[in-house]
Amino acid sequence: MRKFNNILVTGGAGFIGSNFIRYVFEKTDFKGRIINMDSLTYAGNPASLEDVAARYTERYVFEHADIRDKEAVERIFDEYDIDSVCHLAAESHVDRSIVSPDDFIQTNIVGTFNLLQAAKERDDRITLFHHVSTDEVYGSLGDTGFFTETTPYMPHSPYSASKASSDHLVRAYHDTYGLPITISNCSNNYGPYQFPEKLIPLIILNALEGKPLPVYGEGINVRDWLYVEDHCSAIWTVMKEAKASETYVVGGRCELRNIDVVKRIAALVDEFAGPLPSGAPRESLITFVKDRPGHDHRYAIDCTRLENDFSWTQTETAESGFAKTVKWYLDNNEWVKSVRTGEYRQWIEKNYEKR
Ligand code: NAD
Ligand code: TYD
Repeated sequence: MRKFNNILVTGGAGFIGSNFIRYVFEKTDFKGRIINMDSLTYAGNPASLEDVAARYTERYVFEHADIRDKEAVERIFDEYDIDSVCHLAAESHVDRSIVSPDDFIQTNIVGTFNLLQAAKERDDRITLFHHVSTDEVYGSLGDTGFFTETTPYMPHSPYSASKASSDHLVRAYHDTYGLPITISNCSNNYGPYQFPEKLIPLIILNALEGKPLPVYGEGINVRDWLYVEDHCSAIWTVMKEAKASETYVVGGRCELRNIDVVKRIAALVDEFAGPLPSGAPRESLITFVKDRPGHDHRYAIDCTRLENDFSWTQTETAESGFAKTVKWYLDNNEWVKSVRTGEYRQWIEKNYEKR
């Protein structure tokens, strides 16, 4: 089992990063410090970690800094005596990558390169560099079969191509320089603090507000849904226990067509918030819209290796996880409102100076 003292988490103000930091402090035996390096793009929100910042004043540090900035990266490695990295910072939304791929190349590829270089130059004290990646690097499946650790890379979107590129760089730093690395490639996550541009939170909030529920194409594309805390436990397990150089795929064993996800979420919003003022079920808000260009048909993960090597397993099913998530968005009106109205950006500008 690896031991860490000062973990650099990049992208910790985002959806998975904020859940991961909370998970490590609250659900593991980690006794050290976490340094959260995040440039606070539209997807980063320090309010997602207000509770953690208040409770772990000695062990949680926030650094408002950009992984594209080499000097900032190096300063942070040295100032906090970083011995391990969990790298999540990325531009993460496929639709944005189609419209404007530039930041995806700079952050996901060049930013990852900056972190790897800094780690390599300090390899006498680096225990592990873990890269959080996606199953989208493997491309698209037909109606059968699964992605595994040996599936060849075949990314289609600028997002998945940039993540594939960063995976290759991370492996190259192991194979060439001996940097101790691990990689996890995960399926679609959902849960608290997800920015409402991704399918599930977008549908929850639009359903609540009585707005159209946009479904791309015919809604027959399939995703494998994983509750975010189950992803966090998988990342931590790999970081602690996997051999250096290893990759693990992580999935929910929960394949659903988009149209079925949207119908289930709409029904849960009806159940918890009551029907629309007209009395109609929220499913009636479903609107089929133009398909995403290059839309991958199906993602599905066979995570047998992770389950067998470490007895890791998912704790949530779609039934329990979707219900928990809908309740969270209903119960956290302040977070939702500030994200929905854009108020969180003004708050960040007032309170967070970039270093
Ligand atoms: P997110 O978009 O919610 O968060 C990304 C975070 O990175 C934000 O806080 C943002 O401010 C920060 N960031 C972006 N550019 C940065 C830069 N240049 N410097 C410093 N910080 C920067 O993303 P997420 O959904 O939490 O995803 C986290 C990681 O997990 C990503 O690497 C993504 O590729 C991967 N992943 C996500 C999913 C998913 O379903 N969300 C699935 C598999 C893998
Ligand atoms: P998304 O949450 O963007 O994740 P990803 O593209 O990384 O899988 O989308 C999940 C699926 O839902 C994907 O097949 C695209 C589809 N989708 C819609 O049908 N409507 C929407 O408004 C969004 C955002 C996504």
